[in-house]
Amino acid sequence: MPPVHVERRPVDERESRLANGPDWDRYADEYQHTHGAFLGDAGFVWGPEGLTEAEAGMLGDVADRDVLEVGSGAGQCSRWVRTQGGRAVGLDLSHRQLQHSRRIDEESGVVVPSVRGTATALPFGDASFDAVFCSFGALQFVSEIDVAVAETARVLRPGGRYAFSITHPTRWMFPDDPGEAGLVASQSYWDRRPYVEVDDATGEVGYVEHHRTLGDWVGLLSDAGFVLTRLVEPEWPAGHDRVWGGWSAVRGRFTPGTAIFAADLRA
Ligand SMILES: C[S@@+](CC[C@H](N)C(=O)[O-])C[C@H]1O[C@@H](n2cnc3c(N)ncnc32)[C@H](O)[C@@H]1O
Repeated sequence: MPPVHVERRPVDERESRLANGPDWDRYADEYQHTHGAFLGDAGFVWGPEGLTEAEAGMLGDVADRDVLEVGSGAGQCSRWVRTQGGRAVGLDLSHRQLQHSRRIDEESGVVVPSVRGTATALPFGDASFDAVFCSFGALQFVSEIDVAVAETARVLRPGGRYAFSITHPTRWMFPDDPGEAGLVASQSYWDRRPYVEVDDATGEVGYVEHHRTLGDWVGLLSDAGFVLTRLVEPEWPAGHDRVWGGWSAVRGRFTPGTAIFAADLRA
């Protein structure tokens, strides 16, 4: 990785996409190598705590349902939905992530039809799906989050379920450090400026993550016609010693690392 420095400053949708697509293309091989076994080829985990959809039931019964995963990566979650009888399809911005999805389709024999695209312009007709979900996919990488949530509402059928996991918004108060340094609040929870990595040589944005507070999420969902039904904050399981980025047992004992929302589109 070229030398970069970190800033907190506004980044628009175009710049976010131009940075994050190529970044995920570069990172995909390492991501799948590092996390593939934990995710499972046809496994559905909501985050680094390892809470599975089989345990959490955020989507409800997926059998015989049309399901879209936004930010599907290598399609592990959608493959699990397929094993439960759901008609899951994937969408991801990264060509290389989708190549891994195809590889696992072939290796596992469970095929997830997938398309390259972005969360803010879903290439599907109105009212096409019974459920849409993201497991740490797309939403943190999108600047125009109101557009992404509205697009989700558009492709859902009335009464359809939207479920997604993101970094718990309170984590943005702390340095992204899995050790004890990551337990000392040093940044304002209300600072919505995204985290930006800038290439020292070119000045170009190489990576962006966007932050919204819990209250922002409630407003976004409500404005797009959703009724929030659940907010799950998984506890760090005893004996789980896996470190994933800033997630670890050290921090997990004290602060939630993941927030999982479920909301239903008003009928
Ligand atoms: C942390 S990965 C999660 C993928 C998968 N759910 C998993 O658990 O491995 C985030 C994914 O979101 C994708 N992504 C980033 N920005 C996106 C966007 N604007 N639209 C769709 N996907 C996007 C990335 O390419 C990446 O595959």
